[in-house]
Amino acid sequence: MTETSDLVIAAAADSVPNIALNDGNAIPQIGLGLLRIDDDAVAPVVESALASGYRHIDGAAGYNNEGGIGRALTATGYNTGERRASLWVTTKLRDSEQGYDSALKAFDRQAGLLQVDYVDMYMLHWPTPFDWRSGETWKAFVKLRDEGRVKTLGVCNFLPEHLERLHDETGEWPAVDQIELHPTWQQREVVAFCKEHGIAVEAYSPMARGADLKAGDGTIERIAATHQVTPAQVILRWHIENGTIIIPKSVHAERQRENLDLFGFALTLEEHAAIDALDGPTRAGHDPMTFSYA
Ligand SMILES: NC(=O)c1ccc[n+]([C@@H]2O[C@H](COP(=O)([O-])OP(=O)(O)OC[C@H]3O[C@@H](n4cnc5c(N)ncnc54)[C@H](OP(=O)(O)O)[C@@H]3O)[C@@H](O)[C@H]2O)c1
Repeated sequence: MTETSDLVIAAAADSVPNIALNDGNAIPQIGLGLLRIDDDAVAPVVESALASGYRHIDGAAGYNNEGGIGRALTATGYNTGERRASLWVTTKLRDSEQGYDSALKAFDRQAGLLQVDYVDMYMLHWPTPFDWRSGETWKAFVKLRDEGRVKTLGVCNFLPEHLERLHDETGEWPAVDQIELHPTWQQREVVAFCKEHGIAVEAYSPMARGADLKAGDGTIERIAATHQVTPAQVILRWHIENGTIIIPKSVHAERQRENLDLFGFALTLEEHAAIDALDGPTRAGHDPMTFSYA
């Protein structure tokens, strides 16, 4: 395999647009998802992504691999100085650690594992409406932001009623709502609500964990063949054109590069509309009304 030159990596990183957030910060539109990778396997995955030009990683306490991420950041020098400033690090609070004191304590542990002085985005992982503590937890998040230990506050899996409730209790809209979003599960009502209130939408499982690569009876594959790109690139390009932040996960360096290489082609209006038309009734993940990640 040929070595990727520094110039090629810099070009890859530069080609990813930033999305402006309602708090004045800007997040790279593509990040690397880190779910379902063991702690002892995650360091090389993060290192290959950084070497390919990723400047945004998406972790969580619940993924049980923050220690491995921290080891990769330290080994590559991305935990301090200019390199740290060039990288967006997201992590999420465990549902079981919601609450004011427990969130502050959890953040200390997480920042320690990640070996960073600050985290770019800290997120509530699930709304847990059956055990609602988001308002109280948010006060801890605000304290961390005031102290400069977190730059941006976000939520995941919040439906409009949860966003409204958080806003009623805190007077704030989060900067980002990270939700399950892919061609066969588009959550248009949630997306419209977020747009109306200046909340950036971030798509998790942007390819439905791979299931959408074959969506629409070969629609995605046919569009891919037309542009001589892969089905993954077609789906991810559709998200990019929608202005959505995406965090595709791959443990393979080649796929990581493929998932970053979305700027050499564009979908026609017809192709984009054909993917819009794949929306359906089946999610790949869990229901925010009932689920807790614990
Ligand atoms: N906030 C939440 O509640 C929540 C929930 C779920 C996920 N997330 C976040 O979102 C990230 C992404 O979601 P996800 O991991 O569920 O699903 P995803 O990114 O839609 O799909 C990942 C799957 O697709 C495969 N893949 C990746 N690139 C590919 C390519 N170019 N061609 C073919 N297959 C490819 C991966 O396999 P290989 O790894 O073997 O390449 C993996 O099996 C997660 O890692 C996590 O960070 C957040």
